[in-house]
Amino acid sequence: MKKKLIIAIDGYSSCGKSTFARAIAKELNYIFIDSGAMYRAVTLYCMNRGFIGEGKLDIPGILRELQDINIEFVYNPDIDEYETFLNSGNVEKEIRGLEVTSHVSRISQIPEVRSRMVELQRQIGIFKGIVMDGRDIGTVVFPDADLKIFMTASVEIRAKRRFDELKSKGIKVDFEEIKRNIIVRDITDENRDISPLRRANDAIILDNSRMTVAEQMEWVHRIIKNKLNGS
Ligand code: DC
Repeated sequence: MKKKLIIAIDGYSSCGKSTFARAIAKELNYIFIDSGAMYRAVTLYCMNRGFIGEGKLDIPGILRELQDINIEFVYNPDIDEYETFLNSGNVEKEIRGLEVTSHVSRISQIPEVRSRMVELQRQIGIFKGIVMDGRDIGTVVFPDADLKIFMTASVEIRAKRRFDELKSKGIKVDFEEIKRNIIVRDITDENRDISPLRRANDAIILDNSRMTVAEQMEWVHRIIKNKLNGS
């Protein structure tokens, strides 16, 4: 049987991790998991239940209902993509909005939320043949991953990419607000107590500030080929 890999892609927000990870998964016919979408879905659940809002965070409430939060990735043949479902409802568009984005860092700092997500992520990875992107995939979720990539790009470029992505989805946004949001998220992600954003020692760095997706694919293609051939 053909060797199957676990590929971990970590890095800063809006670096194009998901686009890159999705493209690799498609090429290899692997499962792609956007772990950020899972934290976003939990955040949306907490918003809907009134557990989080401006100046409000009801941790006991969240912990009480944590086991009731069910997250799935469901294939949509019309767009040939997996979409995020929260307790059987499609939330793919809603979780990308600015309100979820501005609350998600606080939710992803809660230790119990993280352990629940890591547990779900490891279950998904059990059969290998998976590309997962996030912040702690190579360090915490799959420390033995076959290939670890740590992505980075300049703040300006990342803000522009997020801006274009939201605009193309019909979501109204302000460029400066997005940029501020990215800077704040970098600081929060890097400085939180549990699973802070760190490059795993054995991760390869990919700065894609000046690279197209096609160039990134060409770069990774060679690395994967070596891994699959056992070198
Ligand atoms: O990749 P993203 O921007 O969709 O991630 C949303 C948030 O979730 C981000 O602020 C950091 C957090 N996150 C995390 O803490 N751990 C992960 N593995 C993935 C995302």
